[in-house]
Amino acid sequence: MAIETVGVVGAGQMGNGIAHVFALAGYNVLLNDVSEASLSKALDTIGKNLDRQVSRGKITAEEKQAAMGRINTTMTLADLGQTDLVIEAATEKEVVKQQIFDALLPHLKPTTILTSNTSSISITRLASRTDRPEKFMGFHFMNPVPVMQLVELIRGIATDQETYELLHEVVRKLGKTAASAEDFPAFIVNRILMPMINEAVYTLYEGVGSVKSIDESMKLGANHPMGPLELADFIGLDTCLAIMNVLHEGLADTKYRPCPLMTKYVEAGWLGRKTGRGFYDYR
Ligand code: CAA
Repeated sequence: MAIETVGVVGAGQMGNGIAHVFALAGYNVLLNDVSEASLSKALDTIGKNLDRQVSRGKITAEEKQAAMGRINTTMTLADLGQTDLVIEAATEKEVVKQQIFDALLPHLKPTTILTSNTSSISITRLASRTDRPEKFMGFHFMNPVPVMQLVELIRGIATDQETYELLHEVVRKLGKTAASAEDFPAFIVNRILMPMINEAVYTLYEGVGSVKSIDESMKLGANHPMGPLELADFIGLDTCLAIMNVLHEGLADTKYRPCPLMTKYVEAGWLGRKTGRGFYDYR
């Protein structure tokens, strides 16, 4: 089966990055979100990120135009029915993802591969609620999608080999590298990354260091491209907290207890870059 048209559900920072890389690799993309404003903001972001690649000589202006021309948008989920591959990249809440699949499934052709960009939720459980658990997979991109080389591929218990191999080939066509992860809470990257970010928040909470000294320590002392608090702001504190909760509940170990300060920031709406305030002020 050849994949030509890709549906992306959710035009936020992951969804627009996914649409960007698929369009640049020659796929036709149908990007879906619930409002006209979020779709036009996503197109604007994709245009600016492609411009950045043009100005750095990574792609030509013609390639940018061609990529933009391959992206269409829709607010109607049913329009994704005829696509060959659907990537759900909505918010990291299981109930939201399930509602999307429930609304989408009646319109989907039988051969369409269904995937979720979830960073932590059980693929087996998400798949079990669909009519095609054998064609369902975790397809986890990293942020910023156009820059990060890795894509995690997560098989649910029922995923068939053909689906796995097809997605492996898609990752190769995107010019990225696939890492296979078993279906356990938060898979590989976030199983390791999120406890580090959570520990950085504890380090701040307990007064061991300031925001600046914690981030500088990890940048200059461990050669990380971003400090852990800066990275938490970049990912979104709501997403970080949701992943810590999945780890805490799924692995039933207190070492994954989310830091109360992270919870408090999320309750305050201080979610990081996207809301203008997190550990840093972006206003
Ligand atoms: N789109 C396209 N290109 C982009 C981009 C974007 N959104 N953002 C940055 N770039 C490109 C730049 O054009 C530049 O390209 P060249 O090297 O070809 O010149 C390159 O990326 C570096 O960018 P900058 O020089 O502007 O900035 P930087 O050196 O500070 O790097 C960064 C920015 C790549 C984001 C870097 O800070 C970094 O790697 N940070 C860590 C990111 C990370 O850990 N991501 C994983 C998050 S975890 C996750 O995603 C999983 C999850 O489920 C939560």
